[in-house]
Amino acid sequence: MPSVKSLLAGAPAELRFDTELLIARALGWNRAKVFAFGEVEPTADVLEKLAPELARLHAGEPLAYITGSREFFGLEFTVSPDVLIPRADTELLVELAIDQCPTNARVADLGTGSGAIAVSLKHARPDLSIVAVDRSAAALTVAANNAARHGCDIECVISDWYQNLNGQFDVVISNPPYIRADDPHLPSLRFEPVEALVAGALGLDDYKKLAAGAATKLAPGGLLFVEQGADQADAVANLFTQSGLTDIVTYNDLAGHCRVTRARKNES
Ligand SMILES: C[S@@+](CC[C@H](N)C(=O)[O-])C[C@H]1O[C@@H](n2cnc3c(N)ncnc32)[C@H](O)[C@@H]1O
Repeated sequence: MPSVKSLLAGAPAELRFDTELLIARALGWNRAKVFAFGEVEPTADVLEKLAPELARLHAGEPLAYITGSREFFGLEFTVSPDVLIPRADTELLVELAIDQCPTNARVADLGTGSGAIAVSLKHARPDLSIVAVDRSAAALTVAANNAARHGCDIECVISDWYQNLNGQFDVVISNPPYIRADDPHLPSLRFEPVEALVAGALGLDDYKKLAAGAATKLAPGGLLFVEQGADQADAVANLFTQSGLTDIVTYNDLAGHCRVTRARKNES
C-alpha cells in the first residue's frame, strides 16, 4: 500500500495543498497530521475512496466540487457543478449590504447560485426579507438547501433576472456573469457552469439588464449593488448612469481591485 508521503510525492506542486486536504479528509485527520504521520499506509478502504478523488483533482477539477463544500463568509456551503464556487472576492458585496441595507429592507439577490450571498446576508441580518433568484432550477435547489442548512428563511424564485418578481425592492444585489466570451481564462474554469460565467462579447450584457430592470423594480431611493471584473468599473458606472441611476460609488477589494459598484434610484 502507498504511504501518505508517497501519495503526496505524486502531487504536482500547485496541487500539493489541495492534495493534503483530500488525504486529511479521507483519513479523518487534520492537515498537520498528514505531515507528522507520512509513513502511515491508508487502508484499502480509504484508498478506494481517495484514489478517484486525487485523480479528479489532478485532472483539474476544483477541490470544492470533489468535496461538495466551500466556506464563504464564515459559513460552509454545499456546492455542486450546477453552481459557481463562491469566491472570497464576493464577500465584499456581502459586507457592504450588511452595512447599508436599511432595517427590515426587502432585498433581491439576483443570480444566487449556491445562495452564498443571500444566505450570508440573512444569517448576519435576520431582519431582512430576502428573495434569492436564479434562472437555473438546479442552482436554486442548491441555494434552498444551503438556506435550510443555516436556518435562513429565504424565498427562492426561478426567474430570468427580475421577470417573475413581484413588487419593488429596497436593495438589489448581484454577482452576475461578467466574463467576456473570448476570455483566455475560460478553459481553466471549464468545470463551472458557463451560464454562471459568460455575459456576451464584453462581459457586460447582464449589467445592462440589471440596470434597466432597476428602473421599475427598485423602490424610490433603493440601492443596486453589483460585483464586477477588475477592469469593468467604468463601463458599469456608465451603464448605470444611462439607466438613470445616481449616487454611484465603487469599492475596492482587499487586492485593491475595483470590485463592487453601488448605485441608487432617485427618490422621485
Ligand atoms: C457569477 S454566478 C454567481 C453565483 C453566486 N451569487 C455567487 O456569487 O457565488 C451568476 C449566477 O447568475 C445566474 N444567472 C445567469 N443568467 C441569469 C438570468 N438571466 N436570470 C437569473 N439568473 C441568472 C447563474 O445561473 C449563476 O448562478
